[in-house]
Amino acid sequence: MQTENKQNQKKTRRNQEALPILMLILLSSLLVLAIVIGIYYKVQPNMTASADTKENYAEKNESEEILRVVTKAPTKAPTAIPEPTTTKAPSPTEAPTPTETPSPTVTPTEAVTPSPTPTKAPSPTATPEPTEAEIPSPTATPEPTEAATPTPTATPTPTVAPEPTEVPTPTPVKDFTADPEKPMVAFTFDDGPYTPVTGRILDVLKEYDSHATFFIVGNRISSYTDTLKRIYEEGHQVASHTWSHKNLKELDATGILEQINKTEKKLNQYVPVGSVMLRPPYGATNATVRATVPVPMIHWSVDSLDWQSRNTDAIIEQVLKDVSDGDIILMHDLYDTTAAAVEYLVPELVERGYQLVTVEEMFAVRGQELTAGKVYYQAIPKR
Ligand code: NI
Repeated sequence: MQTENKQNQKKTRRNQEALPILMLILLSSLLVLAIVIGIYYKVQPNMTASADTKENYAEKNESEEILRVVTKAPTKAPTAIPEPTTTKAPSPTEAPTPTETPSPTVTPTEAVTPSPTPTKAPSPTATPEPTEAEIPSPTATPEPTEAATPTPTATPTPTVAPEPTEVPTPTPVKDFTADPEKPMVAFTFDDGPYTPVTGRILDVLKEYDSHATFFIVGNRISSYTDTLKRIYEEGHQVASHTWSHKNLKELDATGILEQINKTEKKLNQYVPVGSVMLRPPYGATNATVRATVPVPMIHWSVDSLDWQSRNTDAIIEQVLKDVSDGDIILMHDLYDTTAAAVEYLVPELVERGYQLVTVEEMFAVRGQELTAGKVYYQAIPKR
């Protein structure tokens, strides 16, 4: 019995010793449970909140809240990541909702729009005022327009389009270099061009940096276009000797103009000389010619009589005995004897201090104006 009692006592002691251990285990378990529950509730509130939001969102159509939700949406996105399937499902539901929502939003907007429209209604009332205000402005505008109108009206007038159309006006402004204080004469050559003679004359003029005037017969132009171009390009004056060397005194105004216009038109096909001076064949003019010819007519003060003598020495003597400042010298670029005489006279006159210039330049540098329809024999000498 004692042994049994001892054994029971031992058991009891063991039980008594085990009790605190059990209690410890139990408390530990409770603690763990509490922690687990705590963690659960920490997570749960977020899920609940999102659920509420979803509900509000589905139920409420007010645009303001939708805007808020949309704004918050990105913030919630990470939260939704754990349950993508569920989150996406409501998304489509949400999608249509906002889509419908904007329309009502637009409607109020339109409702507001009409109000500004009525606002505009009064503005038209105000519009007549500004219109009146604007009316005076345009009224003022037409005034300057009228002021400007006369100017352009004047512009077409100076254009003188009709004239240049028929005969291109003045040639490019030439750069005259003759010294008006020094003696000068103008060689003039009629009845050409004729290349064998004209060419020699051009050569010597070029050699002495001198210029001359060529009164060209219109019906010869086609045969000597190269020489005509050379005359122009080397700075000489291109002028007219009529189309077919007619005595203008035997023609009426129409015939006179035909002789002049036809020649100018032909000249301008090759060189841009515009309207050119005229030397009437035989120096023949009368009242009709002077009244009809639309350009200055250039006669001469020194006649070389080259056409008559056909002698180089005679030509040279004829010129040198009479030449003086302001003279216009008559020659014809048709004869070899004339070319030879010029080849002597050019250096000789230059040596004597004469400037060999075109008719145009001589009158220009001396300040003597040439008038259409008038006849000129020479430039007024210096002194
Ligand atoms: Ni002639």
